Amino acid sequence: MALLIKNADIVNADTRYTADILCDGETIARIDKDITPPAGAEVIDAAGKHVFPGFIDPHTHIYLPFMGTVSKDNYETGTKAALVGGTTTIFEMVCPSRDMSPADGFATWQAQAEGKACCDYTFHMGVTRFDEASAKQLREIVKQGVGSFKIFLAYKGAFGVDDTELWHTLKLAKELGVIVTAHCENETLVAQMQKELLAAGRTGPDAHHDSRPPRVEAEGVHHLMSFAGLTGAHTYIVHLSCKEALTEAIAARERGVHVFIETLIQYLVLDKTYAEKKDFEGAKFVMSPPLRDISNQNVMWDGLASGLVNTVGTDHAPFDFKGQKPMGKDDFTKIPNGIPSIEDRINLLYTHGVKRGRLTLQQLVAVASTNAARIFDLYPRKGVIQPGADADLVIYDPAYRGKLSVKTQTQNVDYNAFEGWEIEGRPSVVTVRGEVAVREGKFCGTVGRGRFLKRQPSHF
Ligand code: URP
Ligand code: ZN
Ligand code: ZN
Repeated sequence: MALLIKNADIVNADTRYTADILCDGETIARIDKDITPPAGAEVIDAAGKHVFPGFIDPHTHIYLPFMGTVSKDNYETGTKAALVGGTTTIFEMVCPSRDMSPADGFATWQAQAEGKACCDYTFHMGVTRFDEASAKQLREIVKQGVGSFKIFLAYKGAFGVDDTELWHTLKLAKELGVIVTAHCENETLVAQMQKELLAAGRTGPDAHHDSRPPRVEAEGVHHLMSFAGLTGAHTYIVHLSCKEALTEAIAARERGVHVFIETLIQYLVLDKTYAEKKDFEGAKFVMSPPLRDISNQNVMWDGLASGLVNTVGTDHAPFDFKGQKPMGKDDFTKIPNGIPSIEDRINLLYTHGVKRGRLTLQQLVAVASTNAARIFDLYPRKGVIQPGADADLVIYDPAYRGKLSVKTQTQNVDYNAFEGWEIEGRPSVVTVRGEVAVREGKFCGTVGRGRFLKRQPSHF
């Protein structure tokens, strides 16, 4: 069925103009002034609203077996939440444990998503061990349409790789044109500081950030940048949180290392005092890298506005406050790391970025959609409103006023990290390849319609 969006204030990363958008089937067929509705078309008047290309979350963990438990969402709940919040494509991290082969990991995550995903999805393939057998399987997985790897310099014994494995992963990536996304923290420093804090009686969530200070992350970035420079591999630093780490990444970029940088919505609007909340409430805000001193927020906002920082993701990793976070009640190192934010990223970015004058509307589109599409080989199918692109559209109502709350959220977790926060806008209609999937905050799409997006690597 055709869908005609009239009077659209079309906001792309590099253009902005008013026109009508005609979607025919799954793609955008035409953009023009005064398009006459085809017979039987649904017509939506977008006057007074913005129309954005579907937002892309470059970093999610809908399914994450981690620290002795499993994240709460499944592909149905997680992608419904994504859509309600305006995100129409997610990049999920495939994170097999070290004793699972890459092939089994890939198949496991495919099985989790298939038939349940409501929005389109693609994977960053976690490389959690490297040997001849895994290299062979990784080549096959790349052929099947996965154009990016994920490595962890932290979480040794779980997902972390050693330096020899890091070297070989980067060499293989360079050969295949695959971009390597990386969690950068020095694990030896983390382990040592955790031990000393616990010995000193610091067992609560507030000790988490003291065990992973900014220099730990900066050291991880420095390490990755040395390896990237020597192998020539193209890299993408996930969840960069602080000035020290940014400085290392920019220094490497300036000497020619191929590196893109992602920050997260939580580092832009939260700070370490949240993790210091009493009565174990701080556990809701335990993530790695940890929340930082508030001065880092402006560093990240400025980085986005200037183009130094390329994307804003969520690292959505939902663990219940009641059933799961208390695994670390007496030992902060056992608190499942992660925060849910897939549903709220765009509304927070709009409210605290655009409405506060930190980002323009077009910069919002760049950092939350277009840049990820370009970096990860989905552009121009995704990340732009133009004829031929997938009809993933977000009709955004800047007049909406409301509050974020666990009581009204779609994501399947028992708290909202932004409980009671006001938002000054929200998606009024969201489409997935031409089908209306959200109307006024409610999912109305089709479960299982989300498609696995095959990507051809381009980072040679
Ligand atoms: O604390 C976090 N970030 N949890 C999810 C796993 C990861 O490191 O991305
Ligand atoms: Zn991580
Ligand atoms: Zn992550």
